[in-house]
Amino acid sequence: MKYEEKKILLRNGKTVVFKSPSEDDWRAMIDYITCMAAETPYILREPDECDDTEESEKAFIRRYNESENECMIAVFDGGKVVGNCNMSIKNRKKVRHRAELGIGIRKSHYRLGIGTALITELSVLARKAGCTQFELTYVDGNYRAKGLYEKCGFVEVGRMPCGVRFGDGTYADDVYMRKLL
Ligand SMILES: CC(C)(COP(=O)(O)OP(=O)(O)OC[C@H]1O[C@@H](n2cnc3c(N)ncnc32)[C@H](O)[C@@H]1OP(=O)(O)O)[C@@H](O)C(=O)NCCC(=O)NCCS
Repeated sequence: MKYEEKKILLRNGKTVVFKSPSEDDWRAMIDYITCMAAETPYILREPDECDDTEESEKAFIRRYNESENECMIAVFDGGKVVGNCNMSIKNRKKVRHRAELGIGIRKSHYRLGIGTALITELSVLARKAGCTQFELTYVDGNYRAKGLYEKCGFVEVGRMPCGVRFGDGTYADDVYMRKLL
């Protein structure tokens, strides 16, 4: 599913572009995910798990763009990808009303309203596709994500105790949230 490109005005007066990445953006996308893995403990990938190649990244982008039930929006500040959000609608008839969401923003662009704008855009797409609920998980302790999701109307519905184990051997719960569309 492709997202129609849009310019978004940020809180600091600058603009970024929301668009579905094209295969030509493979290098900027790898740079983004490698940076995210190093910057935050709250995405699942560790830096040594960023082993994407030109071929695998192009295939990843193509999969989203050609899919009927998945959509990815990348946030471009000039030629640089500074954020990303993806939505995946479940496939089987009995669960087709449910869409899952994942999101990340580079530290340099925190708190400018990008997260809120991405969730707003994908909520519209999910609703148009017939979904009635949005779902996500975040790692307990990720107060930025909790704040964003609550602001956007998500409510905690459960937890997976010790859902994540960090490199130092400590654990954190995975928190499940839902928002009605
Ligand atoms: C979580 C994340 C996506 C938030 O994105 P963002 O673009 O900074 O979010 P926004 O600017 O739209 O902020 C939305 C709301 O979140 C809350 N929030 C964000 N940062 C916060 C902070 N440091 N303290 C308290 N609340 C905060 C606020 O309610 C904020 O609204 P406000 O600025 O109007 O008060 C971003 O911090 C991020 O990518 N973190 C690293 C990766 C990650 O954790 N991804 C989520 C995995 S589940």
